[in-house]
Amino acid sequence: MITTYIDHPLRDLNSFHVEERAARIIEFDRKEDLDEIFAEGNAPEKWAVLGGGNNILFTQHYDGTLIHPTGKGIERLQDGSASARVRVDAGVEWDDFVQWCVERELWGAENLSLIPGSVGAAPVQNIGAYGAEARDIIDQVHYFDTLQRKHLTLSNEECRFGYRDSIFKGELRGRAIITAVDFTLGTTVSPSLRYGDVQQQVEERGGATLRNIREAVCSIRQTKLPDTSVLGNAGSFFKNPIVPCAVAKSLQQENEGMPIYPASDDSLRKLAAGWLIDKAGLKGLRMGKVGVHDRQALVLVNHGGATGGEVMALARYVQAKVKEKFGIEIETEVNIW
Ligand code: EPU
Repeated sequence: MITTYIDHPLRDLNSFHVEERAARIIEFDRKEDLDEIFAEGNAPEKWAVLGGGNNILFTQHYDGTLIHPTGKGIERLQDGSASARVRVDAGVEWDDFVQWCVERELWGAENLSLIPGSVGAAPVQNIGAYGAEARDIIDQVHYFDTLQRKHLTLSNEECRFGYRDSIFKGELRGRAIITAVDFTLGTTVSPSLRYGDVQQQVEERGGATLRNIREAVCSIRQTKLPDTSVLGNAGSFFKNPIVPCAVAKSLQQENEGMPIYPASDDSLRKLAAGWLIDKAGLKGLRMGKVGVHDRQALVLVNHGGATGGEVMALARYVQAKVKEKFGIEIETEVNIW
């Protein structure tokens, strides 16, 4: 079914809760609806996909059409001996999918518990937390190609996943609308507890069952990350910067205790943007209606009634201060519209 809204407020459709509007929003719940929405002569000129609105900062009124998938199907495709394949519609809440897996004793999604957003958004930025990434369990991504007006499928490899990155942020940006994602999940016990806090909290709960891991992850997230329904935010506002190994080492020598993580390439290292912002003295900073979260410096928050422009002004200030103190550029992780 297709539902259209004209001149619609975006406040409840973005987790920052900024007060902007969209000229038109089209909701659809079946992939065939896209053939109609993008039929020749009928296709919107300017459009973008709006998932859960959890990784977006609207800095102005959107004068095009926002396409919003609402399909909520979860279908088990086939069972192997050690894995199960599941097809999930783009409109399913990510955490509802994780819960669904945990209830059925399917392994692989549990470390990604409570990440806000929709399943359709998960492959776009290859969501990740606590040593796991969506790419570890994604088998295929189904999408509508608006240029060719065709329904197509990409394998995991073809998605070219990277750290918070994929082909949907590159070549297929502004062209693909993800309709469903197929996941491969484990049917045998396979916990991933590399992240110290999770390991400890799981042990406190009595060991590595799916339910204990989910509870541990939810509890850690709830203590560090603000609830978007109370305090508008979009999770990590910045990416963790990737720098040459030598730069990371010399910074670590100057700054005792600075965390360094491995990166995809051995000559590179990943730094913790949250740590850099914190040590630049900005944690808990308030600038009018916006601020740096007081428990996790990587998160910018709307204390109420802020515009996207005000959040951006704070983001630029944070970037400048980190650059001034450490000589490191931190990029936004959130999409700025
Ligand atoms: N840190 C500080 N001060 C802070 C925040 C962090 O000193 O205010 C330090 C921590 O003590 C730790 C290091 O920085 O030593 C890293 O912090 P943390 O483990 O909290 O993780 P992160 O790098 O800040 C990333 C993801 C999160 C994900 C967590 C857990 C990015 C941009 N963020 O955060 O993802 O939940 O790891 O795995 O990669 C998101 O993308 O929206 C998100 C929340």
